[in-house]
Formats: sequence, C-alpha cells, structure tokens
Amino acid sequence: MFSKEEIIKILSSNDDSILKTADEIRKQYVGDSIHLRGLIEFSNYCNRTCYYCGLRYENKNNQRYRLSPDEIIESAKLGKKLGLKTIVLQSGEDHYYSTDILCKIIEEIKKLDVAITLSIGEKTYNEYKAYKDAGADRYLLRIETTDKELYKKLHPNMSIDNRLECLHNLKSLGYETGTGCLVGLPEQTIESLADDILFFKEIDADMIGIGPFIPHPNTPLGNSNINLNKNFDLSIKVMALTRILLKDINIPATTAMETLNPNGQIIALQSGANVIMPNITNDECKDKYNIYPHKKNQIISDTINKIHSINRTVSNEKGFRNKTS
Ligand code: 5AD
Repeated sequence: MFSKEEIIKILSSNDDSILKTADEIRKQYVGDSIHLRGLIEFSNYCNRTCYYCGLRYENKNNQRYRLSPDEIIESAKLGKKLGLKTIVLQSGEDHYYSTDILCKIIEEIKKLDVAITLSIGEKTYNEYKAYKDAGADRYLLRIETTDKELYKKLHPNMSIDNRLECLHNLKSLGYETGTGCLVGLPEQTIESLADDILFFKEIDADMIGIGPFIPHPNTPLGNSNINLNKNFDLSIKVMALTRILLKDINIPATTAMETLNPNGQIIALQSGANVIMPNITNDECKDKYNIYPHKKNQIISDTINKIHSINRTVSNEKGFRNKTS
C-alpha cells in the first residue's frame, strides 16, 4: 500500500516503471480478457453547468437530442446482437426521463440477459432504489476531483457532499459502483490527484474511470493553457496507481485517452486497464455527444482488432468485479 507521499513522488517523477507493475497486477488479478461495455449516449441534454463539459446547459452551440425509450431499447438489442454482455446507459442530467420511464427501459433491456450500467448523474436514494429494483446492476458517477475548493469552482450549484452521499447510497443499495476523476484540470495539484487515488481505495470502488481533461472551446475552461501530452501521461499514471491499489476492480481504457493519443487505449490496456466501452449510439447522435472536442468513438470491430493485436482476448462474461479480499 502506497502512502500519500509515495504516490506524490511517483506522479511527480519521470520514472514510469509503475505502468509495468500495474500491467502485472492486472494480469494476476483480472486476467487477459477484456470486458466490452456497449455505451448508449441516450440524451445530451444537461441541466448542469460544469466548467469543463461541452454538454453544459449554457453551451447553446450544441445541437441537443434525446432518444425515445424504443430507440434506446433498439440500441441495446443491437448491442446484444453484437455480442455485448453489458449495456451502459449514459446521458447528461436530463429530467425529461421520469423514474417510471427509466425503469421500464431498464426492465426491457434486462430481458436481453445483459448487465446494465447507468451513468445518469446525481439522483435521490429512492430513484437509485427504483432503478436497482428494475434491474440495474452498476452505476458510474465520477467524483471528478476530491479537491473541495476546485470542485466548488468547477461545479456551480453543486455540492461535493451530495455527490459523496450519492456514491454511498449507490453502494448501500448494492450497485457495483464506479467513480473516477479528471486529470490535468487547471489548478489541479499532484497532491489532490494523490487524494483522488486514496479516495478510490477508501470507498472501495468497483470500477474507476480516469480521463485526461481536454478543453472544450464552448466552456469556461476552453482557453486553458494545457499540455495535452502531459495530461495523457499523467492520466495513465493515475490509472496505473489505481490498479496497483485496487487490484481486482474493473478499469476502462477511456475514450479521452484514445482521443489524445492514437495509441492511447493500447497503452492503457498495457498499464492496468481491462475494460473498453465501445459506443453503440447511432452515428448522428454520437457526434453530438460532445463532452470534449474530437471525441474518438470506439467501434466494436476496431476495438476487437486492437485487443487481439496485443494478444488479449474478449471476455464472454458480464464482467462483474471478482472481489479477492
Ligand atoms: N475532458 C475530459 N473529460 C471530460 N468529461 C467531461 N468533460 C470533459 C472534458 N472536457 C468527463 C467527466 C464525466 C465524463 C462522462 O466525461 O469526467 O464524468
């Protein structure tokens, strides 16, 4: 177990031997097969105004869309046909979909015998409970940063305490719970990234998604002076340390990593990652899901080729966490 000081030292140094260590631990604890999670981005409406995200309510340049329940279910059926064992339903925080409608969608998709992951933001305990009772298995809610000051600056009208409560509610309801952070935000320190990693360990997350921050021009952080290569390298290191600390969890090679580096996902898969989330949203919509510019959406066939090119295999299972301790 690394101390905070050790984590800071590793993140600050040029030595990247931890990537290899993370790869070995990945192999030992979760093996060589990679879980594919089919991502459906079903609405890009969002009533939040997070400073970094292109879906923010105040971005009037983004063309908005919503998939109907039938369209969502059809996309899930396509995913099933393509062999996917998990369907991820993601959207901005959009109140258009009532709890009843979401539960009906979940119930229909559940009939396909797939695992269901939700990534639809902060909701009440009762809403989380209703989705769980309807058949949802997992939930993704990144903490984004554990730095309280920075969190406050970047998330107007939101509270880190509520986000933490959401994560605890999800855990207590029995969801496999995923969180994660952005890496390389303006004013984010190495020390706070060390805190993020220790937080993942403390709450014993089942899944961790880590992505480099990529400035979006139509956001308050659009003009940030950011070294994208540095963000990429640092995000890989944060991910590798997360694998070393939380040995048996599921960690995706994220789309943001692939967006910054043409080899990004392969590097991630060789530095601790064991999951890829190919995008199965229809083409017209996925181009409008502009969290950040030039998002590289993953197509299943490319993903599978990539996996085979590094002598790894595609998992046949739903890919729940196999807790080892
Ligand atoms: N760069 C990288 N990742 C971003 N996200 C939102 N905006 C950006 C950005 N500009 C991430 C957040 C969110 C996830 C769905 O997308 O971490 O949780």
